[in-house]
Amino acid sequence: MNWKLLALAAVVGAQLAPVEEPSNTPELALLMGDLQRLTHKLALSADAGNAVLAAFYLHESQEQLRKIQTEAPEYENLPVALLIDRLAHPAYAPMQDAVTAKDAKRMREAVNSIVQACNACHTATQHGFIRITPGTEVNPFNQSFAP
Ligand code: HEC
Repeated sequence: MNWKLLALAAVVGAQLAPVEEPSNTPELALLMGDLQRLTHKLALSADAGNAVLAAFYLHESQEQLRKIQTEAPEYENLPVALLIDRLAHPAYAPMQDAVTAKDAKRMREAVNSIVQACNACHTATQHGFIRITPGTEVNPFNQSFAP
């Protein structure tokens, strides 16, 4: 192989190199990580029957979902913002009602509808292997969730 051919092969090889992942890929995972922490604290607050704290994390979670819709509206051609509108936002309504009523039992039940929405969307976006749980057995935070 002469040098000209070698150079040509290098150029073609570079063009065939795998394209980098879309730039929003790591960003969505980070945004989801924040959402996971807020969801966990919401669940711990609800489990402790702390309506004031649950209302705070409910608001923060909804803000985070809106941030995701703005910053990562699409992920690998999947309509993330649309799925959040359809699957995620409506799942927070029972929690809103429960914290307004300061009803501990309904707050605990409302956690499940939120967690189910997380997992439904993971399945819808080919990430069903990311399974969220309420995670209320242990408090891993240096924070009290008691009312
Ligand atoms: C739009 C649908 C959708 C919804 C709703 C959704 N997720 Fe995700 N989630 C994704 C996708 C897609 C990824 C993979 C992101 C990536 O590969 O960069 C992901 C990744 C994650 C991860 C992995 C990142 C990490 O830090 O470990 C966690 C955790 C997570 N989501 C938690 C949640 C929680 C908690 C909820 C519900 C409150 C939720 N997600 C709701 C689509 C969704």
